[in-house]
Amino acid sequence: MFENYLLDIIYLVASVTFVAGLKLLGNPDSARKGNLIAAMGMTIAIAGTLLFYKNPESSNGSIAPVIYICIFSAIALGSIIGWISAKKVKMTSMPEMVSLFNGMGGACAALISLLEYPHHIQGGHTLILITIMIGLVIGSVSFAGSMIAFAKLNGSLGSSYRLPSYNLINNIFLAGLIGLAGYTAFIPQESSIMVYTIFALSLVYGIMFVLPIGGADMPVVISLLNSFTGLAAASGGFLYHNQVMLTGGILVGSAGTILTLVMCKAMNRPLHQVIFGAFGAGNAVEKSSSGGTMKDISVSDTAVLMNYSKKVIIVPGYGLAVAQAQHVVHELETLLEERGVEVKYAIHPVAGRMPGHMNVLLAESNVPYEKLAEMEEVNPEFATTDVVLVVGANDVVNPAAKNDPSSPIYGMPILDVENAHHIIINKRSMNAGYAGIDNELFYNPKSSMLFGDAKSVLTKLVSELKSM
Ligand code: TAP
Repeated sequence: MFENYLLDIIYLVASVTFVAGLKLLGNPDSARKGNLIAAMGMTIAIAGTLLFYKNPESSNGSIAPVIYICIFSAIALGSIIGWISAKKVKMTSMPEMVSLFNGMGGACAALISLLEYPHHIQGGHTLILITIMIGLVIGSVSFAGSMIAFAKLNGSLGSSYRLPSYNLINNIFLAGLIGLAGYTAFIPQESSIMVYTIFALSLVYGIMFVLPIGGADMPVVISLLNSFTGLAAASGGFLYHNQVMLTGGILVGSAGTILTLVMCKAMNRPLHQVIFGAFGAGNAVEKSSSGGTMKDISVSDTAVLMNYSKKVIIVPGYGLAVAQAQHVVHELETLLEERGVEVKYAIHPVAGRMPGHMNVLLAESNVPYEKLAEMEEVNPEFATTDVVLVVGANDVVNPAAKNDPSSPIYGMPILDVENAHHIIINKRSMNAGYAGIDNELFYNPKSSMLFGDAKSVLTKLVSELKSM
């Protein structure tokens, strides 16, 4: 009895650490601490369960040694794989890793349901059976969908695959699946055939759900699947009367839902369009209707222009992450500030490939957080800016989002860099960004292209400035 109270207190402490950890994750300065606090809470919850959980099916509450062997082997295996992959992963591959780990959470929830269903068919606990079915269907969809998202992000699966009328087929399939799961919850089945059929059909639906969605929308889909996994885990918490699982699941579910909506808003794409639309499905580059001429600028001319500016705004994008140029861009900013130039970074909410990508990248090179300005705050400042330096960004500065109703990014809020006096764009070629479309900014009379890999170009720019 005493152990039960102790376990409840441990779960309460762990739940509080999740909430506190999540709060601290909201700021790059405290994010690392937040992550550690939440991880510590999870460790306390696991240790408490191992020490104090009593087996209700045994007279003295003991648990068979083989169970402990399985648990410790799984913890050791999971910790080693998690540790190595987290150490090795490149920042640009983070969405892939999140997708893989999220899929594992979904699979856990589904396996719990598969194992628990036969234990609850006697006695007509319909509510419990409904909970089990929710965990089974959502967990399996999340697992299968995350695996497809992972394969798409790492390039092993091509863009989108669509059956004719795939929306209709998917919706009919989903309705059938929900009907079958409801039937199995309300009319308990002695045979396990039905529950395994639902498991298999949910996996198929997870694949059908993600397969037609284009690569550009994958981070949104991952966030959505993340919220699904949270719900599936919460249903496990409900089933076991385990508060820590319930709190953790609800937090993941709600955080995933909010993030999904924030990303959709930043891209000006309603969620139903992400799921049912074709954006990012192809890699075709649409040619600019404006055509126009484009001019180059040399590193030394860029150095002169920046050195004699009063105000410079740097716009980082996905290319900065690819080139790993965050340290050298910070060096450039410090050098310019030493010469009396005011420098800031304009951060678009979906620059890069994951939420907060640029914030994390620049925090890595110790750029002070006050130097990062959000889009709404910085947009009015471009008109009074001498030089805008766009480093490896493309879609987030594409004026087609404002001027071209036929563009796939039309309506997405962008950084108004064209209002600055001089626009210098660093990228390696005329290749398109993620949306696969041409950028008329490159042909703007105020724009100059500074071609080359961001790290090597910025390194040359820094040494040029030092010699001035
Ligand atoms: P992009 O539009 O993808 O453009 C990145 C540019 O960087 C490319 O045009 C590329 O041109 C250049 N580049 C690549 N490697 C480089 C290097 N080593 N040195 C210099 N330049 C390099 O990036 P963005 O402006 O950051 O926009 C993000 C896009 O991703 C948006 O369409 C957004 O909707 C989408 N997206 C973002 C998220 C999140 S949450 N961030 C989620 C889903 C989708 P070159 O190849 O010519 O160098």
